[in-house]
Amino acid sequence: MIRFARRHMLGLESYTRDELSFVLETAGAFKEISERNIKRVPTLRGKTVVSFFCEESTRTRVSFEIAAKRMSADFVSLTGAASSAKKGESLLDTTRNLDAMRPDIIILRHSSSGAAEFLAQRVACAIINAGDGAHEHPTQALVDLLTITEHKPVIAGLTVAIVGDILHSRVARSNIFALRTLGAHVRLVGPPTLLPPEAAQWGEVVHNLKEGVRDADVVMMLRVQLERQGRNYFPTIEEYARYFCLNEEKLGAAKPDVIVLHPGPLNRGVEIASDVADGPYSVIMGQVTNGIAVRMATMYLLVNRPSAELEEELAEARRAAVNGDETIATGRGF
Ligand code: MLT
Repeated sequence: MIRFARRHMLGLESYTRDELSFVLETAGAFKEISERNIKRVPTLRGKTVVSFFCEESTRTRVSFEIAAKRMSADFVSLTGAASSAKKGESLLDTTRNLDAMRPDIIILRHSSSGAAEFLAQRVACAIINAGDGAHEHPTQALVDLLTITEHKPVIAGLTVAIVGDILHSRVARSNIFALRTLGAHVRLVGPPTLLPPEAAQWGEVVHNLKEGVRDADVVMMLRVQLERQGRNYFPTIEEYARYFCLNEEKLGAAKPDVIVLHPGPLNRGVEIASDVADGPYSVIMGQVTNGIAVRMATMYLLVNRPSAELEEELAEARRAAVNGDETIATGRGF
């Protein structure tokens, strides 16, 4: 049975429970490669991956690059500032030119919602959306889901509080879609000005931080996306922090085994206090580590699509991981 036959990774809104579970299982199997002494497998040997980032990024960009290199792909990195976009070339023209060089995957980050989908309809290679405006950031949400399942294996029934600037957050949107599909109870917490009109259809809406995290299993903090805000949504940063900065005292209302996520970059003292970011409930560094496995899995699945033998390969990889075998003898060297 083919459980993943997508051509692109654009957003999680239309993903089924089965597809999400399959990508997460695949990512789980890839994790072990980063723990090896020699962190390289030939899975994507002979494949070319281009990353085209028209916005700043630390974690996403570096983890895609490390992931591609750990799978032996040829990796080319281009930023908007260093591209012909600076000379007035349109996004479509730049991407068509990149596509004409026959890469297998282009990873795109862009400030316009829908940019990745627009290009996916016009190029031959696979497109991975690494964040498009305030729309979706699917691989980040997959990272978050993988991290959650490592601490709470069953997502269905968990109460997940997503806190902060939900209006401008692509991370929140991708998570909301996927968490709902997987059966979590989603709570959206923030000032009314930072919640989108659809919020009430997506989950329970709460405007008070302590009430919002009450009895939560998972708290997902979001950065205030000042660069995506066209006007003032709250009087001052200090006032936002007074009401919505998660500190240990407020987190005390959550379940005793709560975990706290944040996609980064952190604004310490604005949305998250250091006692929480660096405290015992934080799984933020685990998210960063999981970024590699999720991006390896995503590229692997797109390049190997459609993948009838995939299930067998994954089963073999899992058996090898259990046996501590570093050389997995499958056709693709997975
Ligand atoms: C994003 O690109 O959306 C980040 O991963 C999260 C953020 O910028 O706050």
